[in-house]
Amino acid sequence: PDHSFDYDVLVIGAGPGGYVAAIRAAQLGLKTACAESRETLGGTCLNVGCIPSKAMLHASEFYDAAANGAMAEMGIETKPKLNLEKMHGQRIDAVDGLTKGIEFLFKKNKVDWKKGLATFQDAHSVRVGDETVTAKDIIIATGSSVTPLPGVEVDNDKQVVVDSTGALELAKVPQKMVVIGGGVIGLEMGSIWNRLGADVTVVEFLDQLLPGMDGEVRKEAGKIFKKQGMTLKLKTKVTGVTVKGKKATLTLEPAAGGEEETMEADCVLVSIGRRPNTEGLGLDAIGLETNKRGQIEVDHDFRTSVDGVWAIGDVVPGPMLAHKAEDEGIACAENIAGHTGIVNHDIIPGVVYTLPEFAGVGLTQEEAIEKLGDKAKIKVGKFPMMANSRAKTNHEPDGFVKIIADAETDRVLGVWAIASVAGTMIAEAGIAMEFGATSEDIAYTCHAHPTHSEAMKEAAMAVTGKPIHI
Ligand code: FAD
Ligand code: NAI
Repeated sequence: PDHSFDYDVLVIGAGPGGYVAAIRAAQLGLKTACAESRETLGGTCLNVGCIPSKAMLHASEFYDAAANGAMAEMGIETKPKLNLEKMHGQRIDAVDGLTKGIEFLFKKNKVDWKKGLATFQDAHSVRVGDETVTAKDIIIATGSSVTPLPGVEVDNDKQVVVDSTGALELAKVPQKMVVIGGGVIGLEMGSIWNRLGADVTVVEFLDQLLPGMDGEVRKEAGKIFKKQGMTLKLKTKVTGVTVKGKKATLTLEPAAGGEEETMEADCVLVSIGRRPNTEGLGLDAIGLETNKRGQIEVDHDFRTSVDGVWAIGDVVPGPMLAHKAEDEGIACAENIAGHTGIVNHDIIPGVVYTLPEFAGVGLTQEEAIEKLGDKAKIKVGKFPMMANSRAKTNHEPDGFVKIIADAETDRVLGVWAIASVAGTMIAEAGIAMEFGATSEDIAYTCHAHPTHSEAMKEAAMAVTGKPIHI
């Protein structure tokens, strides 16, 4: 260790990027501290993101199954009674348990938690609260926060115009909810309240939901959410929201311009994306600039342009996902310790945790055609969940698996799945792609019966030949 510094490594931010980087650095023998301004560890993901949203999605799924007849179909006749306070209670318990778990892991690995907002003084020293902490290497893992929509003021306390944090905590099921932005947050949060009885309208600027996903998957998403009772207003933008008491009035306009219309709601969710957190971090003091999107640029090793300063997670370019942040945290700590840490950014799965789940890894069909330059250079195999014995038995007919392969080499370029357990199924596609698998490799791998994953095998069989069950 270099004794001229308090620590070998200081991590700023204790989200999935930062806390994982800190633990790995400590595991590698580096003296490590982590600065976090929140009262609890775990960042956006554990406190107000991945975990509480899944707690509400899971619970609301049970309610919906009882309320919409899905349980009755299986011979369980019941009339559900919503105890929303209790549902929130189990959400809070889940978050508490996991954030305390990180605190335990910090103690176990001897990572010092510096409580407070961190601001750079120079490239090796940071002010945290009223303490100055010096470190040989500093990792910026400050994450992201909600992108504001001009003309729309979020006030989570009032519970009328909210962001995702407010939408997790609504004390009452809104009668009419308008979601601005048909991306991941809008659809997950919209699903929760739709299941619990709200009348949900999703307003999306583009002509399809879920930008970034495969075209066919996006189209199917539109059909599925409509079937579940959501109203979709595509190609529409919100130009303003006014609040009077407990009611909001939205003004909308066609995305391409045109006649304005208004819409009433008792809850409006703003979910039009997230932006990197760099304000107040004192990047000026170290001469570190952000790019046009406000992100900190890094090289393959997660080094910034300033010697000794590294960055990972939502604050750097790439998908804003917890598992991407975690993997970057591990790789970055390994690089600092003199090992070789690598993240393959071409193979990062994305999952929307609705019912069914929407998942994908690698290229979309559109991207694959663009990359190879010709439609004839790819082959696509598809298999519907309706023909999968387990999905059919479980009354989960929606969705399909789709495999996109290079027509010449048969190498898998991308895999997309819509299924009740698509998020779990997509892991095997990621492994296959990491190992450079062909579609034939997947097709000749024995998959347990009866599982949803057999649809993966059959989609692979469909790439160059024929599946058995359709
Ligand atoms: P963050 O988790 O944002 O953590 C950064 C931390 O740094 C914060 O705790 C912040 O307080 C702290 N900080 C910032 N500045 C300073 C400073 N100057 N000093 C001290 N501390 C500071 N991703 C998934 O993969 N799966 C999901 O299911 C999923 N669900 C989500 C649901 C919602 C509602 C939201 C909002 C996000 C969801 N995400 C999900 C995205 C995921 O939460 C982020 O990608 C992930 O948290 C990014 O990790 P991070 O470590 O980069 O940053
Ligand atoms: P998003 O980028 O997924 O979706 C935002 C949507 O809003 C887009 O479809 C966009 O076209 C639309 N939009 C933008 N401006 C608009 C306007 N003025 N009017 C109408 N529509 C408009 O962002 P979202 O949903 O806020 O999520 C933020 C991030 O959080 C995502 O990048 C995602 O990676 C992460 N996240 C991940 C989850 C998961 O992995 N399951 C769950 C929740 C969030």
